[in-house]
Amino acid sequence: MTEIHRGLAGVVVDTTTISMVNEQTNSLTYRGYPVQELCANCTFEEVAWLLWHGELPTARELAEFQSVERNRRTLGRTVSGALSRLPADCHPMDVLRTAISYLGADDPTEGLDDRDHNLAKSIDMFAKLPTIVAAEQRRRRGLDPILPDPALGYAENFLQMCIGAVPPAEQVRAFEVSMILYAEHSFNASTFTARVVTSTLSDIYSAVTAAIGALKGPLHGGANEAVMHVLAEIESAGEVEAWLKQALADKRKIMGFGHRVYKNGDSRVPTMTAELRKLTADGTADELMAKYDALAAAMLRDKNIHPNLDYPTGPAYHLMGFDIPIFTPLFMMSRITGWTAHIMEQLESNSLIRPLSSYVGVDQRPVPAGAARL
Ligand code: ACO
Repeated sequence: MTEIHRGLAGVVVDTTTISMVNEQTNSLTYRGYPVQELCANCTFEEVAWLLWHGELPTARELAEFQSVERNRRTLGRTVSGALSRLPADCHPMDVLRTAISYLGADDPTEGLDDRDHNLAKSIDMFAKLPTIVAAEQRRRRGLDPILPDPALGYAENFLQMCIGAVPPAEQVRAFEVSMILYAEHSFNASTFTARVVTSTLSDIYSAVTAAIGALKGPLHGGANEAVMHVLAEIESAGEVEAWLKQALADKRKIMGFGHRVYKNGDSRVPTMTAELRKLTADGTADELMAKYDALAAAMLRDKNIHPNLDYPTGPAYHLMGFDIPIFTPLFMMSRITGWTAHIMEQLESNSLIRPLSSYVGVDQRPVPAGAARL
């Protein structure tokens, strides 16, 4: 009898040197560094470099990288023209999927897939995605885009392009921490998708476009949007118990809870929750936070299921002023670093990813003659 591993649960399909998720100790390291220490000590640009190169950048390497990144933020006419023609009400993840396709079609080095070219393409996508997401956030509100500012770092520039000014340091920091925490998580569904596409020796833009499709789903990146819908659906903290009872009776999955790997808590949640608490320390979001805490406590008590990273990022992004449909694109802006690191790693020792299936359909039979089919 063939052993079936539905959802590839528990299956180790390859090695990686990029990150380690240890479910026993609830820990996550990028290139050996605990993600909490990276959040406390690094910018997102430094973490992106670390994921791509394996080491944190020296001061000179960082300055060179920042210079390249800041010069690549502006979109070419092909891409901005194409995006402006998309239906006004399409989901921002559809905008990103289309944008990456156009970036690929517009790249004169398309087809050159050695490490140096793929690194340059990775930096290009990393630099342009904030411009695209910020323009999309503003388009949804009927506002003109704001041009990137090469004098500002990644987080400040992005937030300024969204809201027209650099927000208070606390918000910039919370945003940057979310970017670092979302950057990489081993063979999650979207990263694995990128590796499957890469394993056929397809190009980096095709792999990233496919990964965006995988990230969009509510069981993966789409959950950070769904969390806000859940918190909006519950009227008050006092309603949580009754709401959860009904939702579980209806066999609903509670978004922002549970994880395929972590069963005793997601290693990233305490760090992001601390940032969320700083954002809400002034008391203006007390009602939201009361629901947030009550739902987490009830899920633990009734189902023994812990929140995942999408649970604190959903309300954090809401409090930073982002529209809900922009939340998963924010996740994608960050995860482009992990995806592209994995695409380059896959190519270093490629093997076509092609699993088997166990056929359980009808036994072999002859095709009936034409007349017999009518
Ligand atoms: N709400 C209610 N019940 C849940 C949840 C949840 N969020 N998560 C798991 N369970 C229950 C299941 O119903 C199942 O119960 P059963 O054995 O009685 O049928 C049991 O826990 C195991 O759940 P599975 O779905 O089989 O676990 P799996 O590892 O396949 O799922 C997943 C992981 C998809 C993340 C799941 O927990 C889920 O759907 N969560 C909600 C979506 C979500 O938040 N996704 C974000 C993932 S993290 C990230 O992308 C940053």
